Amino acid sequence: MIITGKYPNLRMRRSRKTDWSRRLVQENNLSYNDLILPVFITDGSNKKISIKTMPGVYRYSIDRLGHIVDKSLKKKIPMIAIFPQTNSKLKDSTGSEALNDNNLVCRAIKYIKKKYKNEIGIMCDVALDPYTSHGHDGLLKNKNIVNDETVDVLVQQSILQASMGCDVIAPSDMMDGRIGKIRSGLDKYNLKDVQIISYAVKYASSYYGPFRDAVGSKGALKGDKKTYQMDFKNSDEALREVALDIKEGADMVMVKPGMPYLDVIKNVKDKFKIPVIAYQVSGEYSLIKNAISKKIIDKKSIYETLMSFKRAGANAIVSYFADQIDLDF
Ligand code: PBG
Repeated sequence: MIITGKYPNLRMRRSRKTDWSRRLVQENNLSYNDLILPVFITDGSNKKISIKTMPGVYRYSIDRLGHIVDKSLKKKIPMIAIFPQTNSKLKDSTGSEALNDNNLVCRAIKYIKKKYKNEIGIMCDVALDPYTSHGHDGLLKNKNIVNDETVDVLVQQSILQASMGCDVIAPSDMMDGRIGKIRSGLDKYNLKDVQIISYAVKYASSYYGPFRDAVGSKGALKGDKKTYQMDFKNSDEALREVALDIKEGADMVMVKPGMPYLDVIKNVKDKFKIPVIAYQVSGEYSLIKNAISKKIIDKKSIYETLMSFKRAGANAIVSYFADQIDLDF
């Protein structure tokens, strides 16, 4: 029960009257420490390719990653998340390119680690969708995404990325039991300090469209991901997913997408008190970006959305806006 005064003794507007007073009573804050920047990578050299459905976001060839890392370091963004656009010639039904120790992601990790050591964190997705000809996150057998066989491959993918120098393994596939298996796989290979951010609560969402365009899995995807990603009608189920992943060894958990799921972020934070990461996904980004460029809303709306994640209880936010904004607002 909150005890409060009564009008006219209490006037809530008194503390809103001046800028200094508003700053004094402000409950939440946003800094670059709260942001993770997703970076799309592509083959070739000297490339910075725009993505039609994500204005202002680019795919970089590895030799141009230095520029984006330097920019992130200057702003003190703690971590980048790498996503590959795999040449369609390298895709097959089992996503075998995921286990190639010279694939795009492996080369990018090595490049960044060699140049920047531990100055910035590197997070990598664990899932097969950038590599499969059918665009699914797992192995497809008799029209089913098979769970346990997929997990075996994800464990190998995790060990490979971690041994290249990836700091944070982020399984985004939603297979059952993968966090525990990945943790013990990493430990067996003496990769005990590699962290796991589990995409514990990932909904089957329409907001991933531009991302799938960016990594080139959109055209490839057959059907939908509803047999493994969560139903957006549910929230109790999210808590069960998080409980399982914590028990299996997740260091942090992700809720994804972001804005339509603020209630879930808050529930997870309140119930489990562990680091929660919100993912402001590609569709959310493009909606806001397009509305700003058409002058429908002001660019300050970006801070408003990012702050909503902090208010809900997120410790950090994966956002394509991370390198575009100026936090002196
Ligand atoms: C791959 C993956 C997806 C996203 C992150 N990792 C797409 C999907 O599951 O289909 C979406 C990110 C975004 O939309 O910004 N498993």
